[in-house]
Amino acid sequence: MKQCQLPKDFLWGGAVAAHQVEGGWDQGGKGVSIADVLTGGAHGVPRVVTDGVRDDAFYPNHDAVAFYSHYKQDIALFAEMGFRCFRTSIAWSRIFPLGDEQEPNEAGLQFYDDLFDELLKYGIEPVVTLSHFEMPWHLVKEYGGWKNRKVLDFFVHYSDVVMRRYRNKVKYWMTFNEINNQRNYKTPLFGYCCSGVVFPDEPNPEECMYQVLHHQFVASAQAVKRGHEINPDFQIGCMLACVPLYPYSCNPDDVMYAEEAMRERFLFGDVHMRGYYPSYILREWERKGFNIVMEPQDAQILREGCADYMGLSYYMSNAVQAGQKGSGDALAGFEGSVPNPYVKASEWGWQIDPVGLRYSLCVLYERYQKPLFIVENGFGAIDKPDAEGVVQDDYRIEYLKAHIEQMKKAVTYDGVELMGYTPWGCIDCVSFTTGQYSKRYGFIYVDKHDDGTGTMARSRKKSFNWFKKVIESNGAVL
Ligand code: BG6
Repeated sequence: MKQCQLPKDFLWGGAVAAHQVEGGWDQGGKGVSIADVLTGGAHGVPRVVTDGVRDDAFYPNHDAVAFYSHYKQDIALFAEMGFRCFRTSIAWSRIFPLGDEQEPNEAGLQFYDDLFDELLKYGIEPVVTLSHFEMPWHLVKEYGGWKNRKVLDFFVHYSDVVMRRYRNKVKYWMTFNEINNQRNYKTPLFGYCCSGVVFPDEPNPEECMYQVLHHQFVASAQAVKRGHEINPDFQIGCMLACVPLYPYSCNPDDVMYAEEAMRERFLFGDVHMRGYYPSYILREWERKGFNIVMEPQDAQILREGCADYMGLSYYMSNAVQAGQKGSGDALAGFEGSVPNPYVKASEWGWQIDPVGLRYSLCVLYERYQKPLFIVENGFGAIDKPDAEGVVQDDYRIEYLKAHIEQMKKAVTYDGVELMGYTPWGCIDCVSFTTGQYSKRYGFIYVDKHDDGTGTMARSRKKSFNWFKKVIESNGAVL
């Protein structure tokens, strides 16, 4: 039988976000972002949002892993691995320190010019997220974050400025990272990072969440539409956290529960990819008496600004059971979720399920019939360098290998159109959910630790050479 392969131009690479790697939080005219007032935490110890930067608190994102000053060295290592693309985000507050200015900060723009030039020098395509948990803090303090429709205009202005500036350097864009995290509105961190709103503090958290989302859907559509005017070759995607929710059993109640729970994922794809609100959400708003304020032109904007592709992160699946009441804190488990007896979990409780990746790719492709891009996947673990100073991360290789196998099957057997694969945290960085350095994902180890110590020295882990061979063979050698 003929063996199908991944496409020759498949985008192998790695992914990070500005606030989790850059550091240099107050350099080059950068303003304070929401990540700069977020303390470090741990598994089970929540990160805290402080009112401004305090001298007595530890903010891991201030230094992160000093990519701001080390990016040339890091990109040389990415090139050595053979990366064909590199996903990062633009820190909005480097371009607009407060967020509501008319004129951008030239030093911030120049930094990304230099960064993209350095990537292109090695033939590495930049893949850029416009908003990855790092909006300017001023927009939260003064405007209440994305509750306020004015923030939509500030975002569109920002996206206009960067898309024009980098129109000949960046082809692949994404609007909002893991926008659907906000559906877990009972977990303060998610709303705060996505939109600067702590939903549990609002009089009606759920309604507020949908209002925020409406503003972001419209902003995303406007960015897509204008992006295509700036450069018709742009590929502009949306980006979702894809955690498929399986029915715990074939009990019809569990199956229907999972069907409804999956709407928490599909809503986001449906609006971004199809350009209108699906009937199930309109009925839900009606039932709950929600009044989501929309402007008359919004429906048309949504229709005209459909995303070109769907970017997704995939780390785990969950099983859900009818009648289960979770704590509502998604960091401790999604609503209705129960342990799946068929899969193991990481030290952070994330359930490891490679087949779930193939399943997700099939479901999403069959639903939208547009290209998909796996822009995050990976294994967060505690790495310990051996006597020679090398991290022997066979566990990471095992995780990635199993997921790449399923990804290949989705492409070659199921016929899913997949643009690329960029494992998360290709260089160690600050964890989003816990703020730890010790939750590491990288092929490149960074000597930096939870107590703030470390030299920032970089070194290759065992997985570095493994991934290099995977790319060299276009995924044939795993
Ligand atoms: C995704 C985010 O949720 O998962 C990243 O887009 C994040 O920003 C990644 O870092 C892994 O999560 P964590 O909490 O292990 O860093």
